Amino acid sequence: MLNVIFISWEEIRLDVRRKIEAAFQDMVQPAKEALWNALQSLPFTITEIAPYVTEPETLPYGRNTVFRNEHVEVVVIHLPPFTQSPIHDHGGSAACERVVEGKLTHATYTLSSGSRPVLKKIELVHPGQHCSVDPQELHSIANHTDKRVVTINVYAPPLSLSNVCQTDGEAEDPAARSRTREHSNR
Ligand SMILES: [Fe+2]
Repeated sequence: MLNVIFISWEEIRLDVRRKIEAAFQDMVQPAKEALWNALQSLPFTITEIAPYVTEPETLPYGRNTVFRNEHVEVVVIHLPPFTQSPIHDHGGSAACERVVEGKLTHATYTLSSGSRPVLKKIELVHPGQHCSVDPQELHSIANHTDKRVVTINVYAPPLSLSNVCQTDGEAEDPAARSRTREHSNR
């Protein structure tokens, strides 16, 4: 005889929270590799993460903090179709970002001698893959598809400052220039 067990959305949500807390709560000043190893140990499906997906409010993307202590912050990001972030850094925080659903376009930049962003690397990140960002490194995230993108991001230490690149259309890379103009009101 088949036993059928019903699990509520709230139980799924709490179970995800417990697993994230267990993986990150004892970390002290973790390196990026430790963040990635912890994320790899939590291969959540979109069904498990869905209760934490939020719609954009003041930013171009939904941002929901799932866990935070003095050393680590874990956030679920939702990029709707055809949206992108401005070029920004994370201040002194390192970040590791794992794609749960969709195809994320991730770009990193350097600054020219005139303090203009210059595209350094662009990559397409698929579900189960990750990208990372160093402290003070400029980057942008984008969803160039008609399906949503959902990621789990980990910041160490927790994000306290994000410098947005204000180029006034002076970016050396045309793609960067259009992104900056589009989000100049952030
Ligand atoms: Fe970022």
